[in-house]
Amino acid sequence: MVNTVSAEIGVIGGSGFYAFLDEVTEVPVDTPYGPPSDSLFVGEVAGRRVAFLPRHGRGHHLPPHRINYRANLWALRSVGVRQVLGPCAVGGLRPEYGPGTLLVPDQLVDRTRSRPGSYFDGLPLPDGTVPEVVHVSLADPYCPAGRAVALEAARGRDWEAVDGGTLVVIEGPRFSTRAESRWHAAQGWSVVGMTGHPEAALARELELCYTSLNLVTDLDAGAEAGEGVSHEEVLRVFGANVDRLRDVLFDAVAGLPATDRRACPCAHALGGQDPGFTLP
Ligand code: ADE
Repeated sequence: MVNTVSAEIGVIGGSGFYAFLDEVTEVPVDTPYGPPSDSLFVGEVAGRRVAFLPRHGRGHHLPPHRINYRANLWALRSVGVRQVLGPCAVGGLRPEYGPGTLLVPDQLVDRTRSRPGSYFDGLPLPDGTVPEVVHVSLADPYCPAGRAVALEAARGRDWEAVDGGTLVVIEGPRFSTRAESRWHAAQGWSVVGMTGHPEAALARELELCYTSLNLVTDLDAGAEAGEGVSHEEVLRVFGANVDRLRDVLFDAVAGLPATDRRACPCAHALGGQDPGFTLP
């Protein structure tokens, strides 16, 4: 679909985060991979054009394993987005990462199993174009510039975020068993969520900068002695923190480099490899 509304920065809101700006233009976008989770909601923050996408759709109708991640990232890029901020709710795997902790991870472990995780899967696009086999590096899955900006934005709002850590992404929609959770913690992983993969990997394949901001809503089953996590608890804690998270995101948007000033490796992630199709 051709549209005339453009944006340079994308924000993908997670559980409990369904709106970002008051004044927005709703932009329905279609992609070769089908529809994204919702329309894009495009507005302005500090003179920067921002496209907001509710990851689970308005009203949270999409569980993590049913989200069309490929369509979401494609849709954002197709309106001009080159830098993406991805806030999400997570469980803490260490007692010191209790509810209300903000963590900006620098590593990712994928424990999902049923999600299309690449644009380069050798299958033809609906228009008949067959993508080449392309391998991108995901050694450092997150944009170093975006991480620095997010950490600084949190600090500026008196919210000392944890700088680095490993986000392990489970398939969901169920939460972890206590044994799984203890095992995740024993690996040295920091937080657990359900949506961080394949979002970061797909962003890299589209040469987008991607920064994950993890808001801890609960201590995961292995890190606490109680009943285990509930979705109500996740939404309640997220709701209690969503205003300050929005403030941090506003400041992060303002602090991100201009699209043509990206000095990180993300902008050249394909390293000249021909994807076999034109990036949107
Ligand atoms: N999202 C929020 N809390 C979570 C948890 N404990 N496990 C997986 N995803 C989560």
